[in-house]
Amino acid sequence: MVGAKQLQASGDLSHLRDRAAEVWSEGALRHVFKNSPAAIVIIQDGLFIDCNPAAVQMFRAGGRDQLLFVSLSQVSPFVQPDGTSSAIKAKEMIATALEQGNHRFEWLARRQDNSEFAVEILLTAVPFKDKQLLHAVWRDISRRKEVERELSRAREKDDAFRAGQGRILEMIARGAKLPEVLASLVNLIEAQSDGMVCSVLQLSEDGKRIRSGAAPNLPEIYVRAVDGAPIGPKNGSCGTAMFRGQPVVVTDMLEDPLWEDYRELAKLSGLRACWSTPIFSGAGKVLGSFAMYYRQPQAPTGSEARLTEVATHIAGIAIEHERSENELRASEERFAKAFNANPYPMSLARLDDGRVIEVNESLIELSGYSRPELIERGLVELLWEMPLSRPELIERVRKQGVVRNLDARIRTRGGRLRLMLLSSLIVDIGGLRCLLSVANDITEWKRAEEQLRDTRAELAHVARLTTMGELAASIAHEVNQPLGAIVGNADICLRWLKQEPVDLAMLREALADIAGDGHRASQVIARIRSLVKKQVPEKAPVDLSDIAREVLALLSHEAQRKQVKLRSDLKSAAYVVADRVQLQQVLLNLVMNAIEAMGEIEDGTRELTIETEGSEESVLVSVSDSGPGLDAAQAEQIFKPFHTTKSGGMGMGLAISRSIIESSGGKLWAESNEHGGATFKFSLPVM
Ligand SMILES: Nc1ncnc2c1ncn2[C@@H]1O[C@H](COP(=O)(O)OP(=O)(O)OP(=O)(O)O)[C@@H](O)[C@H]1O
Ligand SMILES: [Mg+2]
Repeated sequence: MVGAKQLQASGDLSHLRDRAAEVWSEGALRHVFKNSPAAIVIIQDGLFIDCNPAAVQMFRAGGRDQLLFVSLSQVSPFVQPDGTSSAIKAKEMIATALEQGNHRFEWLARRQDNSEFAVEILLTAVPFKDKQLLHAVWRDISRRKEVERELSRAREKDDAFRAGQGRILEMIARGAKLPEVLASLVNLIEAQSDGMVCSVLQLSEDGKRIRSGAAPNLPEIYVRAVDGAPIGPKNGSCGTAMFRGQPVVVTDMLEDPLWEDYRELAKLSGLRACWSTPIFSGAGKVLGSFAMYYRQPQAPTGSEARLTEVATHIAGIAIEHERSENELRASEERFAKAFNANPYPMSLARLDDGRVIEVNESLIELSGYSRPELIERGLVELLWEMPLSRPELIERVRKQGVVRNLDARIRTRGGRLRLMLLSSLIVDIGGLRCLLSVANDITEWKRAEEQLRDTRAELAHVARLTTMGELAASIAHEVNQPLGAIVGNADICLRWLKQEPVDLAMLREALADIAGDGHRASQVIARIRSLVKKQVPEKAPVDLSDIAREVLALLSHEAQRKQVKLRSDLKSAAYVVADRVQLQQVLLNLVMNAIEAMGEIEDGTRELTIETEGSEESVLVSVSDSGPGLDAAQAEQIFKPFHTTKSGGMGMGLAISRSIIESSGGKLWAESNEHGGATFKFSLPVM
């Protein structure tokens, strides 16, 4: 079907084929050659034998004749852009075209006026009679070349700019000085645009003043004037930009009100336009400003935006980097100072392997070793005697972050032992995790504490002796009573022995009484001896109710003498851990005070009660009387040493009692009774 249609069509169009032959033979297509907008040249044997008007125009020739019988190399510069000679290259191109039938190539041609221009030539071989002609179509590509050149130049420039940015970032990373970095940045930015001068300014840390950053190509006088100037709402471009935290564009410094106060300076410096953009830290804090200056009034075209962006970005990194470096350095210096000059002995060790890397003067002095001995020879690790090993200490600090007040000792070079409290914690120094150990020499303190304890014991002893002195009459009575009974019983025994027969049963009973009374007397004496004996306090479980009973027994006669009724309410087995004699002394003091206080009142009942009560945690003992009582102000005063209202008093009874109770972890205080009188209470933790 299709074939039939085609056949039919070709049959209909056969006259057109004849027409085409006619067109070709009669040279009608000459018009195409003549009127083609493309330059066409016919070449034979390397010489132009014809050309069209477009070619004449392209070569800016006077006429067609001027182009006839010239060679391709004659309308070209001596060498082509790739460095080969035009003559040689022309021959090559023609040979290729003849060989391949056609050949397209770029060429640098020269006009009659000697100006050069880039063309693309398409050579097509045309066999004519016995010769090969070449049909050359020329296309002026100078515009395209120019664009290409421009593009590659821009690309190169861009590459250079990018490389420049990289170099500056490297400088920052390398730790180059800030002014150097900023100057390089300014130079890089300035190189990207003609007639522009730049500056980077910093904002002082207090955020109030301009500090110079870098302006290698601004007039010296200008740079100096700006350094230290305040920022504010009307302080030139940079001062205002930093103040507002926004870009400020001043197209003419001699007109803009922001420059009112700085106009003379602008004139002197020959500057007319200044566009300033704030530089921010990563956290959005203004660090400074970047400014572009021109010597003529000028408004931004938009092409500067990228430069500004790059400049403020890199300057921000540089300034922030330096500030944080400075901060780090300052904090390290502060640490070093605090470390070296610290009166406490200190050492610093690496947390990873525990190696000591630094010791301070105080530790050197205390240990008696030199720094190299301590650090390089590692003696510092042998210095310590601790309840746990060094790796254990490090492990514990690692887990808890800090270990405080470890009881430890240092053995000095001279062999002396110093008592220390050791604290260790983790610190970060220059990115290295370290173990900082601080020691507190408590040797002297411990000694003083011991002395104080001795003195206290001494004082307590004296106080006990005094009390005993006061009680001499009562004690005598106490001992006398059994002695009297013994003597009486002994007399009776003697009498009974004379009788016949001797009543042995009666005698045995009397002798048992004698033995009992003797025992009682010796117990009284033993109790008194223990109170009078000078001995170091010794803690042991004691029953407070038991002690209360003893004290009551010791003072029963004294109470009777002073007409005081003694009462007690004692819990069974109220055990605490304390020194027995000391607790006796406390109760003795309280009961004596109560008896003495009640001696002052003329009438009314004189009643003294001792009570013990126990809870799960503590035992409470109270001694209450019906004496004059205490007012609020007195309640604390009376515990002060040497506070007394008695002519023969020392004022030490309560002070000693309180220190005894507190040294056993308890509390002693006084309260007023609701219906008159005072109650003294103390509590002690149960064992
Ligand atoms: N039960 C009490 N009622 C009222 N006042 C008291 C009572 N106990 C103590 N005081 C007051 O507290 C003061 C201090 O008592 P403290 O026992 O410390 O010393 P002192 O009894 O005066 O002398 P000493 O050293 O001989 O005991 C007493 O002088 C007295 O004024
Ligand atoms: Mg007293």
